[in-house]
Amino acid sequence: MPADPVAAVTHADPYPFYETLRAGPPLAWNESLRLWVASRADVIEALLLSPGALRVRPVSEPVPRAIAGSPAGEVFGHLVRMNDGPAHTAHKPALQRALAGMDLNAAHADALQVARLVPEAPLSDTLFAMPIQAVAHLLGFAPETLPQVTAWMRDFVACLSPLSTEAQLQRASIAADALMTRFEAMAAIAPPRHGTLLAAVLSEGAAGSPPSRALLANLVGLLSQTCDATAGLLGNSLVALTREPDLRAAAHTQGGLHAIVEETARHDPSVQNTRRFVAEPVTTAGVQLAAGDAVLLVLASANRDPEFNAEPDRFMPIRTQRRMLGFGHGVHACPGQALACTVAAAGLQAMLARGIDLDALRERGWHYRPSANARIPVFD
Ligand code: HEM
Repeated sequence: MPADPVAAVTHADPYPFYETLRAGPPLAWNESLRLWVASRADVIEALLLSPGALRVRPVSEPVPRAIAGSPAGEVFGHLVRMNDGPAHTAHKPALQRALAGMDLNAAHADALQVARLVPEAPLSDTLFAMPIQAVAHLLGFAPETLPQVTAWMRDFVACLSPLSTEAQLQRASIAADALMTRFEAMAAIAPPRHGTLLAAVLSEGAAGSPPSRALLANLVGLLSQTCDATAGLLGNSLVALTREPDLRAAAHTQGGLHAIVEETARHDPSVQNTRRFVAEPVTTAGVQLAAGDAVLLVLASANRDPEFNAEPDRFMPIRTQRRMLGFGHGVHACPGQALACTVAAAGLQAMLARGIDLDALRERGWHYRPSANARIPVFD
């Protein structure tokens, strides 16, 4: 059993541990993490729907101290994912509408074409490069810039982890600066390349005026939200195929691939938890939370809650009602869910078409990249 719900994220099999959490109180205090822990689906849904009192960032530290005042901190500070209130409502609807308006069949075909050009080794890099390059391409980046965008994005995302080093923080700021400059230049072309996700987002804003720094940062945010989470979804889908050889026949069709990816997102999600920070005293699930408290919401446990999904531990690509919280819920729900599943399915298709040896992968085994919330396998 893992030591705690954060260690569980990268444990070989955290799910029996999550079951023990669900058998405990709806909100349990974890002294070593100094966090309240929610593990049942109904409690997590209620917390994610709680207005006002529960925020995505601590009131005292809207931007992590390590990057405050730097270019990486500027991007972070504008992200809808990291804001509540006006900074969230100013840009979330535009991102949501642009993503909801995408033609997912065309996006799959595009992502497949891009994935075919990504080097197949080392596999752990391929897992990141395929989704980032697919979304960068959909945004409008030219094919020859995609490897550079991948390098910048991986540098930027490293600063989002509390585990990052000083050198990583510096590289993150260089990357943030470079990406903001690129988006500014692409947005300045009037109009930006037709049919791109960039054009769709910009068409939501005031016509004729250049995009604000906040909007540019949120374009960078579309790539950063893609990065670790979709690499994990693609990697965990591969893990599912290595573990369950019976699934491999289903992976021959596009529909089958999508079903495998969606069930992976429920059964073994890449985003295992998220956090909320108490801004003002509130009573929830019978517990009085004080301002300054933090709550860990174990989304991956909710997906395996038998009150939420029937036979939750079984991997069933075809389910009558698949429910999951791994893409969040409520005002901060992920607007990229459908695109993420599409891009992961295309990546999986490209890997299988190259003849990836799933049995050899199973024999070699894998472990998980160090992280407090993302479950991303390392195969090499
Ligand atoms: C497997 C891949 C993905 C997973 C598991 C995932 C998961 C999530 C989760 C859990 C949240 C909410 C966090 C919270 O409320 O604390 C979120 C927010 C968000 N995601 Fe995703 N995501 C994925 C891919 C993507 C992609 C591909 C995009 C866009 C291209 C995207 C864009 C966003 C944005 C903009 C937000 C912030 C929404 C808000 O705060 O209102 N995500 N995602």
